[in-house]
Amino acid sequence: MTGDGFISIVEAIETKQNITREQLELLLTGQENDYLMERATAVRQRVYGKDVYIRGLIEFTNYCRNNCYYCGIRRDNKKIHRYRLDKAGIMACCGEGYRLGFRTFVLQGGEDGFYTDDIICDLLESIKSQYSDCAVTLSIGEKSRASYEHYYRAGADRYLLRHETANEAHYGKLHPAELSLSHRKECLYNLKEIGFQVGAGFMVGSPGQTVDTLYEDLQFLRELNPHMVGIGPFIPQQDTPFGDKTAGTVEMTVRLLAIIRLLLPQVLLPATTALGTIDPVGREKGLMAGANVVMPNLSPKGVRDKYALYDKKICTGEEAAECIVCLKNRVDKLGYSIVCDRGDYIGG
Ligand code: 5AD
Ligand code: FES
Repeated sequence: MTGDGFISIVEAIETKQNITREQLELLLTGQENDYLMERATAVRQRVYGKDVYIRGLIEFTNYCRNNCYYCGIRRDNKKIHRYRLDKAGIMACCGEGYRLGFRTFVLQGGEDGFYTDDIICDLLESIKSQYSDCAVTLSIGEKSRASYEHYYRAGADRYLLRHETANEAHYGKLHPAELSLSHRKECLYNLKEIGFQVGAGFMVGSPGQTVDTLYEDLQFLRELNPHMVGIGPFIPQQDTPFGDKTAGTVEMTVRLLAIIRLLLPQVLLPATTALGTIDPVGREKGLMAGANVVMPNLSPKGVRDKYALYDKKICTGEEAAECIVCLKNRVDKLGYSIVCDRGDYIGG
């Protein structure tokens, strides 16, 4: 492909906010990516300026009833030490986070039946009454529509549920038969209808992923039109069935981040911890490819390493305060700045 060809493809994607399968293949396999990064950065700049939003991630339970082949906290992993944070523990994380400037708390966990809807709603009400200027995001998996409605009424603002892959057959390679793509999608549409700001997303380089499955991911994202998209490289976790598979690459991840920024200009796009794990400056590369969110960990230091979705996860030895200073420096160096507000979606 000539340089001109590359430029016209990027321009077409930006203008049409759409991509063809052939364009995707050319962008992912070509040598060049400067112009793609340049346009993604320009679009991000037009919508969000130099702001980088921060979300305080509280990983409150690593018990999970599911058995996803890629995930380190899957039910059949007998090697990990399981933990749950109680209400006081979670509130303490929020208190520390608030003091450090966080105005969004993300409560993330495995699908853990211990936390009934009543427990979750009580927690949400306490957080929202104590920190009324904060947004609360839930990331606790597939639930009934009625449960999602309860959470919303109790004050949850946002919900993260990556779709993982929009291709049926690929979904079946990543998950045991009891999980289905159709139910996953139904959950996402329910969440959106209820009024949540919704986050979907997928791993880059997961076993069985192809240009075709990625193309379906992008078309699904255009159709769902979520407020947030979380993408990061797949990283093998040694005690899972995918322990010896190959990890996704930084290169592919940043290209996809940039493409998603062009397709969904207003989307909130994190430079993920997984990206920072496969490359010491992975998050920086993500921020230069159109990402505008970082999600440092607020979980207590004692449990950090136990939320091991994948191997060699960064920041498990650092206090939240250390991470925020570290991130601030990294973000400043790029000419961006961390802002301490809720960081809501801009636009309709
Ligand atoms: N590598 C990278 N990301 C992973 N996730 C789970 N396991 C892994 C892994 N091995 C991602 C999934 C999930 C999110 C919370 O973490 O996409 O939705
Ligand atoms: Fe955690 Fe840099 S962000 S140490």
